[in-house]
Amino acid sequence: MSASEAVVRCEQVGHVYRDDSGTEVTALAGVDLEVRPGEAVALVGPSGAGKSTLLTLLAGLVRPTSGRVVVAGQDLGALSERGLLRVRATSLGVVLQTPGRNLLPYATAQANVAFAQRSQRGTGPGGATEVGTLLESVGLGAVAHRAARHLSGGQQQRLALAVALAGNPPLLLADEPTSQLDRATGEIVLELMLQARDERGTALVVVTHDHEVSRRLDVEHTILDGRLA
Ligand SMILES: Nc1ncnc2c1ncn2[C@@H]1O[C@H](COP(=O)(O)OP(=O)(O)O)[C@@H](O)[C@H]1O
Ligand SMILES: [Mg+2]
Repeated sequence: MSASEAVVRCEQVGHVYRDDSGTEVTALAGVDLEVRPGEAVALVGPSGAGKSTLLTLLAGLVRPTSGRVVVAGQDLGALSERGLLRVRATSLGVVLQTPGRNLLPYATAQANVAFAQRSQRGTGPGGATEVGTLLESVGLGAVAHRAARHLSGGQQQRLALAVALAGNPPLLLADEPTSQLDRATGEIVLELMLQARDERGTALVVVTHDHEVSRRLDVEHTILDGRLA
């Protein structure tokens, strides 16, 4: 990948949810977005605007109902499940709004990070960061041996970030990663994301309501009613 090539590109992306009764909700429409290596993008907008939907599409967790999402040169919508898993393991780190979903609940914090490191081999520059160092950097050194399900919401949020960064992915996607954190801990999380960007060229896409977070990133995109404003 050349330095100028997008890490992720959305072309006229739309998403319509259909529930069991056939009711349709248009969550996204006509979204064009491009994120370059090392670029830090904030996604802001009111609740229900489509921010989380866009993030799950970028993560390959949901396929768009129209348009294309291209990550590391591959159209996610056209990939098999196996192909999607490969892109997710090599090109993406994801912190979801409910961080428990990223974690193995019965495994220790340390085992969660070690497992992520083995299963994700990022294509970003630089080697893997040591598990203990990563846990220390998110302030979880003291609970390294505690099961993920016994951590608080804020601790799980930080563990999810350590897991997402473990494989050194070229793209980190985070959905309100500081929402359950106090100001000081939120600052640690923000610094860690910016450090990955500065030292490894990790591109960031961060959904946030926190003005302090969006102010420190490079670009801010606002989503209103499923459209980029
Ligand atoms: N799984 C789902 N099924 C049906 N509708 C959904 C689902 N997830 C989100 N929506 C709807 O899609 C719209 C966008 O939601 P979301 O992407 O979660 O917004 P945001 O993250 O900006 O708050 C909302 O109207 C929401 O109710
Ligand atoms: Mg959301």
